Amino acid sequence: MKDLLGAVIEKNRYWTQYGNVATYIPELSKGNPDVLGISVCDMMGNEYFAGDYDIKFTMQSISKIVSFMCALIDNTSEKLFRKISVSPTAEGFNSIVNLETKNAHKPLNPMINSGAIATVSMVKGITSEDKFNRIYNFMKEITNNPDIKVNDDVYHSEKSTGDRNRALTYYMKSTRIIDDDVEEILDAYFKLCSIEVTCKDIAYMGAMLTNDGMLPCSGKRVLTKEIAKTVKAVMATCGMYDASGEFAINVGLPAKSGVSGGIVAVSPKKMGIGVIGPALDQRGNSIGGVKVLEDLSNRLDLNIF
Ligand code: DON
Repeated sequence: MKDLLGAVIEKNRYWTQYGNVATYIPELSKGNPDVLGISVCDMMGNEYFAGDYDIKFTMQSISKIVSFMCALIDNTSEKLFRKISVSPTAEGFNSIVNLETKNAHKPLNPMINSGAIATVSMVKGITSEDKFNRIYNFMKEITNNPDIKVNDDVYHSEKSTGDRNRALTYYMKSTRIIDDDVEEILDAYFKLCSIEVTCKDIAYMGAMLTNDGMLPCSGKRVLTKEIAKTVKAVMATCGMYDASGEFAINVGLPAKSGVSGGIVAVSPKKMGIGVIGPALDQRGNSIGGVKVLEDLSNRLDLNIF
């Protein structure tokens, strides 16, 4: 497996030159566009890695699946889906247009910014800080890494430039999708996006989903099978934003990307996969990371469709 991963990284590294690092969050523009790495964790907890697998990056939108898991644990799905839909979108991840024109003001799904902010607000906790801590602690458990931390530079950079997210959140407050104080719930959201991980951490999280909600190795159940199924279904349909359809054809795995260049993918009953490649394509997904996943999926016949 290690040799295979090394070959996949080296074959696809040239793709990184065709992408660009995100700049709309100023701190992310410091990302190295040449980086490409992968880590795989199987259901027994065995780990394999290649390339720049040990580079740290912020979770960004990958945190959205963890918030979604916590919101599903803390609410009945009927209650949650009264506030947030699970419809794929053809708009960008921070688009505002659908909030006004579709679905009685409900965010289209939990994988885009509006839906994720609403998801954080549905997590158990009196204050937004309680909600952050609930999700953060769960994240430590499902990455098997108690040392993951908020990157303060990225957090401050997001908070000082996040006016599009403010617009989305004020709009959702006006339509009673959320009741929280806007700045406080955004603070929790920005911090969650700014938690720093490696490919290894997100591959472990993917392996837990592969394992239908049980941690690799210990077998400890952290999600019901039903919740794990819901999360994977929403990843498969909405996790790569408006590129989710193409990704389903070419890779065919439930996955979630983030603008710092990470992607977590889930190969059912086989493995969790984490990739990092900060150079992004036009939809905001890691250009090299998508190619690596496509190549791996073809070589190991992983496409679930
Ligand atoms: O709120 C934002 O815009 C970022 N913190 C997260 C966006 C993101 O990762 C979208 N991913 N492709």
